[in-house]
Amino acid sequence: MDIRLKSCFRDPLLEVMNFLNEVVLRYPQAVSFAPGRPAELHFDVERSLGLAPLFVEHRAASTGWTPRAVWNDLGQYNKTNGIINDLIARQLEIDEGLHVRPESIVVTHGCQEGMTILLAGLFDPAEDVLLVSDPTYIGITGLARILGIELVPVSTGEQGLEPADVAAAIDAVRARGKRPRALYDIPDFNNPLGTRMPLAARRALLDLLREREVFLFEDNPYGMFAYDGDPLPTIKSLDEHGVVIYMGSFAKTLYPGLRAGYLVAGQEVVGESGERTPLAAELSKVKSLTTVTTAPVVQAVVGALLLEGGGSLRGIVRDKLPFYRANRDRMVACLEERLGRVPGVRWNRPEGGFFLTVWLPFELDNEGLQACARDYGVIVCPVSYFSLTRGRERQVRLSFSYVTEAQIEEGIARFARFVQDRAGIAPKTAAGLQAAVTP
Ligand SMILES: Cc1ncc(COP(=O)(O)O)c(C=O)c1O
Repeated sequence: MDIRLKSCFRDPLLEVMNFLNEVVLRYPQAVSFAPGRPAELHFDVERSLGLAPLFVEHRAASTGWTPRAVWNDLGQYNKTNGIINDLIARQLEIDEGLHVRPESIVVTHGCQEGMTILLAGLFDPAEDVLLVSDPTYIGITGLARILGIELVPVSTGEQGLEPADVAAAIDAVRARGKRPRALYDIPDFNNPLGTRMPLAARRALLDLLREREVFLFEDNPYGMFAYDGDPLPTIKSLDEHGVVIYMGSFAKTLYPGLRAGYLVAGQEVVGESGERTPLAAELSKVKSLTTVTTAPVVQAVVGALLLEGGGSLRGIVRDKLPFYRANRDRMVACLEERLGRVPGVRWNRPEGGFFLTVWLPFELDNEGLQACARDYGVIVCPVSYFSLTRGRERQVRLSFSYVTEAQIEEGIARFARFVQDRAGIAPKTAAGLQAAVTP
């Protein structure tokens, strides 16, 4: 049997997640600022599973079925696009001011499945190109590589994407006869950079994409995790012309083990005989062949949590914010204390989300990452891992979501020793290194 694999298996993008997991496992004593995981401190999985009857009661009331029939329905194959669409629509209305019809929603097996549905359903790899803000989340770029979809990076500045750069990229794609089908971005508390796109840029980007007829895939898993600054509208909420396909995730607001997310795709598709259907209904054809439906039992838990919160996620998220805000503040304070006077080192202070960026006076590659983990006991994530181009070799992503304040203090102290040693600022001593790896 010929088991030669597709060429995408040799793509470094597909190695990143495994590499990071392996580094974490290989150096268990190290403080890890690598994972973008939510803190387990806020999980109450057991309690949430016990809430399912709340959803059953709601569904029995809204359908007129008996509770027994609703329970059976949860055990059965079910509607492809989901059974909690009304509750998600209500949550988006209450929390984001988004007016969305339940038929516009596809409930997905995590946001990741939303990406799969969009790329598989909307792209013809022979002619369609996906523009991505660069650096960006590997979930989308790795998937595009597997599906053979051409990616065009648009470099991100310190305030997110610049509409003028997007315009230039679109025009360049068109000039070589390809179709720029969509732009993927994370405007709020970007992964990996922590940046947030200002309001004026949101409006300008929307106008541009409308004019050029390019979809925006707005991925927003971190938007509710705002620690300071004025609230900004999602680009979806500014969109009156069907430019944005919105991608939601319950991984950070609830917990990732649910594997629950959704797409909002209310754009009208006009059929051959003039009939109009929401894009979401067309995309259900793809969903029916990826996961058939999102586990109804999981949807019942998500639905119950939404019902318990009066239709909103704000209450649940509000309880988590002090922890993440304190971690962000602690990390920034430790960086200031330990690296504030080191030439060539700086960092951003994100207004929300899980990540910040540190600029280094030297390049950090796999070898540097391993040395930092092995000899100094701290794991960081090179931003170059998320980039399709060169130019990010001196940046690292630090995640502050999955550590305690004590770990942040210890981890940043260790990282500062690594940076100073590599930059040739402090003398390297064996005793110093030994001390650094003591947990
Ligand atoms: C930008 C971004 N999109 C999507 C996801 C994944 O969401 P889900 O767990 O719902 O698939 C993540 C997870 O880290 C993310 O950072």
